[in-house]
Amino acid sequence: MRRASAESDVTSRAEEGYPGSSTRTGRHLEAGRAVDYPRTVRLTAAQLADFDAQGFLVLPALFSRAEVEVLRAEVPVLFAEDTPANIREKVSGEVRTAMGLHLRSDVYARLCRHPRFVEPARQILGTDQLYIQQAKINAKVAFSGEAWQWHYDFATHHAEDGVPEPLALNLHVFLDDVTEHNGPLVFIRGSHRGGPVRTALDTETTSYALWTVDNETVARLARAGGLQTATGVAGTALIFGDCLVHGSPPNMSPWDRSIFSVILNPIANAQTRFARPDYKHHRDFRPVAPLDDGCLLTARAGAAS
Ligand code: SIN
Ligand code: MN
Repeated sequence: MRRASAESDVTSRAEEGYPGSSTRTGRHLEAGRAVDYPRTVRLTAAQLADFDAQGFLVLPALFSRAEVEVLRAEVPVLFAEDTPANIREKVSGEVRTAMGLHLRSDVYARLCRHPRFVEPARQILGTDQLYIQQAKINAKVAFSGEAWQWHYDFATHHAEDGVPEPLALNLHVFLDDVTEHNGPLVFIRGSHRGGPVRTALDTETTSYALWTVDNETVARLARAGGLQTATGVAGTALIFGDCLVHGSPPNMSPWDRSIFSVILNPIANAQTRFARPDYKHHRDFRPVAPLDDGCLLTARAGAAS
């Protein structure tokens, strides 16, 4: 992976209410050519180093309350749709995962192209040739939201879709406040560093078949790196790589937990098998083009007019 170098002429994003990131009009050198980027978030050298070492980044309040409200307003309609892309919990029948969202909602189409997602992904992967592999909300309803077993995403991407290399990035934004109580993601720090570990397909535990990591391997990786619970207010974002082992416990709290996720993958690393439905791995390999930074709020204005 190529990296952009640290920039010195930056305005602190923290001053604008986006802690931990920086903003500038970017000119990022890659593969011998200059690419002009719109004014947007750029990760700092320290964040890029953290991502390398830990395998994930937490970006507190990357999206504002007003932006989160725009995103949340779409959810009831999307969850009420009768479509196979809404996958339900095994026990309660509540929506567990709502997929294909950039094709079902203008607001989520915008979110997938948001520069606060696309620009960091381009920076980490060193290319602007990324496609939208998957776009979904993982919900965990109060009291009954079920677990995601220990896994890493590349196991599924490789076994099911024939993705060659573990390059895809998973970018999340919390649609609810996520606490230690309502089923947060838990990462095993540094678990990506040895590359893919052994997995087995679990079709029993939940309604969503998943290639999972066995307890012995989880214990070894967790002893080495420790666990990190990813919590934060609504609007907080996560970025993690394809080999990072993660999972999340059931939601036994009285508070719902919903998290949006877009997976961006280099076009050169696209799927080579097409057995799964499009909503699990999209087949539009055109590069994702970032919109302007205010694109979520203008979506709301457009809807109101
Ligand atoms: C979760 O929503 O808790 C799990 C998400 C993931 O595996 O990416
Ligand atoms: Mn996952």
